[in-house]
Amino acid sequence: MEQIIIKGETKEEIYSELLPQIKSLIEDEPDLIANLANVTSALKQAFPSFSWVGFYLMKSGELVLGPFQGKLACTRIKIGSGVCGTSALRKETIIVPDVEKFPGHIYCDPDSKSEIVVPIIKNGEVLGVLDVDSYELNNFDEIDRFYLEKIVELLLEKF
Ligand code: SME
Repeated sequence: MEQIIIKGETKEEIYSELLPQIKSLIEDEPDLIANLANVTSALKQAFPSFSWVGFYLMKSGELVLGPFQGKLACTRIKIGSGVCGTSALRKETIIVPDVEKFPGHIYCDPDSKSEIVVPIIKNGEVLGVLDVDSYELNNFDEIDRFYLEKIVELLLEKF
């Protein structure tokens, strides 16, 4: 099994090296869970500042914990609750520079300081979200949004 190899140092360099590797990692594997699992591992390995990387998948109208890397997490999140549920409700990516300032933020890990959530949308329907947390304040910006949305786009054909 090949491993993720990153030589760059800036966020942009890391993502642009990571993207083609994720593409080749998932292209020959049709199984959704296998691909989601490997993507969480690749992201966590590429970015030491990511404390938690995982997917919540829509099941019977709520978000249920899927493949992830990091500490134990809440298993179910209602649509409209927390950052994940709000992203699913609004059907848009949400960047939270300081989780303490996001009303209703759900603390799975009390050390988490900032977060980004990207919804997974196919034919207008929310199928889940990609959630990334960091122990650093203000860890996520438009570069993360751009590349994480691209990674979600690559995964869409596996749903
Ligand atoms: N903080 C998230 C909950 C999921 S955990 O961070 C893994 C939220 O507010 O939706």
